[in-house]
Amino acid sequence: MSGSKQITAIKGMNDILPPASARWDWLEDVVRRVMAQHAYRNVRTPIMELTQLYTRGLGEVTDIVEKEMYAFEDRADQHGRADHLALRPEGTAGLVRAVAEHNLLYDGGKRLFYMGPMFRRERPQRGRYRQFHQIGAEALGFGGPEVDAELILLAVALWRELGLTGWRLELNSLGQPDERREHRAALVAYLQAHHDQLDEDARRRLHSNPLRILDTKNPAMQALVEGAPKLLDYLGEASRRHFAAVQAILAAAGVSWHINPRLVRGLDYYNLTVFEFVTDRLGAQGTICGGGRYDYLIEQIGGKPAPAVGWALGVERVLELLQEEGVHTLEPVPDAYAIIPDAAALPQAMRCLQQLRALGVAVQMHAGSGEGMGSMKSQFKRADASGARHALIFGADELAAGEVTVKALRDGAGAQLRQPLAQPDAWADILKSTA
Ligand code: HAM
Repeated sequence: MSGSKQITAIKGMNDILPPASARWDWLEDVVRRVMAQHAYRNVRTPIMELTQLYTRGLGEVTDIVEKEMYAFEDRADQHGRADHLALRPEGTAGLVRAVAEHNLLYDGGKRLFYMGPMFRRERPQRGRYRQFHQIGAEALGFGGPEVDAELILLAVALWRELGLTGWRLELNSLGQPDERREHRAALVAYLQAHHDQLDEDARRRLHSNPLRILDTKNPAMQALVEGAPKLLDYLGEASRRHFAAVQAILAAAGVSWHINPRLVRGLDYYNLTVFEFVTDRLGAQGTICGGGRYDYLIEQIGGKPAPAVGWALGVERVLELLQEEGVHTLEPVPDAYAIIPDAAALPQAMRCLQQLRALGVAVQMHAGSGEGMGSMKSQFKRADASGARHALIFGADELAAGEVTVKALRDGAGAQLRQPLAQPDAWADILKSTA
């Protein structure tokens, strides 16, 4: 054997392994249930798209598009033409592309959700990865404030089902493009008047994306940002009514929120309502879920105009917050562990195990190292470690009598009973754990 260097995963891209993967499964199960309760249907789109979907959809001067996309030129075809492709940095643009491409809104609005990996070339740290996972919910073809509220309440229902409590809801309205233009002019004038106080990033964004300057993390600019003209003051009657209607529904539902006029989000496609669920318990990466309305995105990528609103949560962050809050999930354990003293018993034993599984029993079979099945003692040790409540013993004596021994490993440990090998349906039920 040569001493080859161990190959590792890419930095910021994590393996999700047992036992932690059981928590992912559980979370996804809860999500599917809550989505079904709200009549949201699953969609799966490719994890790669043409790069221009994102440059056009998310905004050329967003961090994601400027710095964080895994984008590359594909191999050329026989005519020398090559596509520019990108691993998806988020799920909304791809979903909107799919909705437009397949004309999904032809018979009315659609409520959709997705789960899957996203890719951003960010500096990895706690709560921030290069491959991370989002669960997103999007409602397309509905323009009213009730759907904004429905989506927020959907997230709240999800937190409740997961047992998550340490969050707060921040809301803002970004108004409509013309309102934003007016505010933008006032903002640029204000920032220009304080040009000496702007950092390099802000100077660069002054004309390309001044709203994002309000989102700065630079402590030296906080006072300046506090005093800047607020977009909320520039909203017209219709935008204000929309925002008020969302809040009225939330209030009636018993959900509290905090208006954060500086909440602008990191993507350019938003208008009217934007929101984030945030926590103080995860350090710097405290946003567990973010979203808002994006009424102009569909036409921007070439589809027929239609209003839309949605959010996405970060699975890693939600799971970490659950862990912080001490919410534990049960790890799956088999109902029974099959002990097979001699390999000669395997054909009969495995036939019986298949029948048990078909009857709904979760069975883990002892497997040998390749040289025999191992001693009874070591098999029992494995059975114990598996967490199974029963052992099934397929010994030579048992098989000769057409039977199998069922032995309790936990409650009433030691109690054992012979059962007919050929009629597992007569005794399968005693194996099914009640816990
Ligand atoms: P976003 O705020 O960029 O929005 O991402 C949504 C969530 O994904 C964040 O709140 C965070 O929990 C998680 N997240 C983002 N980047 C990372 C990372 N590098 N590592 C771990 N978690 C991360 C969107 O992506 C929009 N598409 C949401 C949306 C849907 N808006 C409308 N519909």
